[in-house]
Amino acid sequence: MKVLILGVNGFIGSHLSERILREKDWDVYGLDIGFDKLGTVIKNPRFHFVEGDITINREWIEYNIKKCDVVLPLVAIATPATYVKNPLRVFELDFEANLAVIKSAVKYNTRVVFPSTSEVYGMCTDEVFDEDKSNFILGPTSKQRWIYSCCKQLLDRVLWAYGFERNFHFSIFRPYNWVGPRLDSIAASKEGSSRVVTQFIGNILRDEPIKLVNGGHQKRCFLYIDDGIDCLIRIIENKNDACNKQIINIGNPKNNITIKELAVRIKKIFEKHPLVKSKRLARKVRIEDVSQDQFYGEGYQDVTFRVPSIKKAKALLGWAPRYDVDTALTRTIDHYVKEYLENSKRCGKELR
Ligand code: UGA
Repeated sequence: MKVLILGVNGFIGSHLSERILREKDWDVYGLDIGFDKLGTVIKNPRFHFVEGDITINREWIEYNIKKCDVVLPLVAIATPATYVKNPLRVFELDFEANLAVIKSAVKYNTRVVFPSTSEVYGMCTDEVFDEDKSNFILGPTSKQRWIYSCCKQLLDRVLWAYGFERNFHFSIFRPYNWVGPRLDSIAASKEGSSRVVTQFIGNILRDEPIKLVNGGHQKRCFLYIDDGIDCLIRIIENKNDACNKQIINIGNPKNNITIKELAVRIKKIFEKHPLVKSKRLARKVRIEDVSQDQFYGEGYQDVTFRVPSIKKAKALLGWAPRYDVDTALTRTIDHYVKEYLENSKRCGKELR
């Protein structure tokens, strides 16, 4: 199989490529603006990489869509602070650029495996979100936080329509707060510029207080990246055509904790980490409350809870997540501590 991954150097793209090349005999064709997360993958003879931009390298993309069996358009801005600050950038990249890719896939009849998001359900009040039954509840237009959810939702619907009217083959997956190594760049992270787990890890490493938006009572279900990739590989494989025209939640309903609890767990794991020489680092961590307006600005609205139904992933793919929340956090923290230590050594600094 030939798999085309746009945004191959991202969190999902880099882990997916690594796993495909390790476990399958498939070829990966990948495009990205960078390659820092790809490690040794880049040297694999079955990995064909081009440094480029999905809004510029259109001919390369079209050529490879034609050649490949499946395309995963993984390029997107996925950090809530950017939805609030630069909603047009989110629209142009997440919606416009990806719509062009989808249209090209339809033209050459190449199957699309599309990353939707748990965010499409918005403030849905169901206890458990079901792919085919739950309603989407978004806030007003003036709350630009929802532009990401809306862009993804419309692309889901466009794919659905191509499937309905033209029998186009696609599968949609909805990640629920996947975490793991390479999630976001700690070095580049400023307030709110990365997702919550990497934000908190970066806060501790940079000796900043952890900020709990609205007291941190909101809940998320965190899924370890290896579990997510496990499920995604099965979707790409699509045995017996089981995933054709299906929408599949990928999350871990058992790892459902408040953001406050997340902060406390991260702090504890830091305290016990063998490489954190001075226990001062973790002990002096301050946890502060902050209002959503202070942290994100007025265009923000939060999701209080979101729990996936994973019945469909189990029924269609025989998949279930394996990693509990502490294992997921420990592995993620371990990666970032090591990366931080290496960078500090290079700059001649010690971990405080
Ligand atoms: C995320 C992003 O929209 C996407 O990455 C993704 O599609 C989706 O969820 C997903 O992975 O399921 P969200 O979970 O709201 O949305 O994003 P985070 O930035 O990780 O925030 C989680 C919660 O932590 C929010 O309630 C936020 O207000 C809170 N938070 C975040 C803090 O309390 N403090 C911080 O420093 C950062």
